[in-house]
Amino acid sequence: MDIAERMKLITPSMTLAIDAKAKKLKEEGVDVLNFGAGEPDFNTPQVICDAAKKGIDAGHHKYTAAAGTLELRKAIGQYLNQQYKVQYEPGDIVVSGGAKHSLYNAFLALVNPGDEVLIPSPYWVSYPEQVKFAGGVPVYVECSEADEFKLTPAALKAKITSKTKVLILNSPSNPTGAVVGRKAMEGIAELALKHKFWVISDEIYAKLIYGEEHVCFPSLSKEVAAQTILVNGMSKAYAMTGWRLGYAAGPSKIMKSIADFQSHSTSNATAIVQDAGVAALAMPDSEIQKMVEVFRKRRDMIVDGLNAIPGIKCLRPAGAFYVFPNVKGLLKPGRSNSMELSEYLLEKAKVALTPGIAFGAEGYMRLSYATSEKGIQEGLKRIKEAV
Ligand SMILES: Cc1ncc(COP(=O)(O)O)c(C=O)c1O
Repeated sequence: MDIAERMKLITPSMTLAIDAKAKKLKEEGVDVLNFGAGEPDFNTPQVICDAAKKGIDAGHHKYTAAAGTLELRKAIGQYLNQQYKVQYEPGDIVVSGGAKHSLYNAFLALVNPGDEVLIPSPYWVSYPEQVKFAGGVPVYVECSEADEFKLTPAALKAKITSKTKVLILNSPSNPTGAVVGRKAMEGIAELALKHKFWVISDEIYAKLIYGEEHVCFPSLSKEVAAQTILVNGMSKAYAMTGWRLGYAAGPSKIMKSIADFQSHSTSNATAIVQDAGVAALAMPDSEIQKMVEVFRKRRDMIVDGLNAIPGIKCLRPAGAFYVFPNVKGLLKPGRSNSMELSEYLLEKAKVALTPGIAFGAEGYMRLSYATSEKGIQEGLKRIKEAV
């Protein structure tokens, strides 16, 4: 009467654990400031909401193709071409219930039991779990603070073996906000071509970038695109986390197998949400830019504020909406690691931060600045007093 072995491989999300504690305190009436959120605090733009309402009124109540409506897949292809000069036909694209779902499909499509999957560390919490669930073996590639947490070709090369099947790339990164530059991307691509492994490029934060260039990995060359599954979605750039809409684009053979698999698992992403996705992609970049400017201001505020607290050192990341400060100077008995420190800060200062260990990096914390400026100022004040 035991559950299946594969379920025992999964580690419960530590980010959700702190989040749950913070929410419970809030429900009890405690004024908790939450720096744990992985989602924009803005509302979804009205044009996107209107498109979903129109979809309801137009009777879009039925199943669509499992891979997504032709209209949305065409819109995604055009968007990627216009933004990054990459070529994808509708048959190269599968729309899913969020980028997380697209990533899971991609791992299932590429990873055989025992295959090694290279994961740059610090990493987003779901990568190792999804890899293990697909039967793969996570192999971590350390990205050091000295390198501003950016993946370097040298660090990657050292971890390649005959069992390497996939590299998961995430630039801009969750949790560090690091953005990998063009030269390093070219070095990484060279290694992928030479050693013949797949790259899953999770570009969900592509639009949340502060001045630096976002290098779309498959845009590097046709050969690179032939070995890459590009993953993106609407959650972050369009403040649509609850709508659940993401997509993957890659060589048609692999994408067809993903579409076939999805037709037996979840079928299509919600029909009217796909209508909303078309409207999102049609929005001018200038609209997204307004949100990016707000994030940039908050980033500078939180980085400067953290660096003013003795014991904390914080880099100024070029993308996403997270900072990943070094808090080793704050560790002492009673709060001797990042988990204990986050529990301490939640109890003493009523601020919720995510421990670095959740992302594979002890001695660091992740703070999301997808929260109001007032909240950031107050949170910084409380942290300073508590430590
Ligand atoms: C790096 C990264 N990839 C993928 C996702 C998943 O996004 P979605 O809401 O589209 O599933 C997230 C969400 O937090 C993320 O941080």
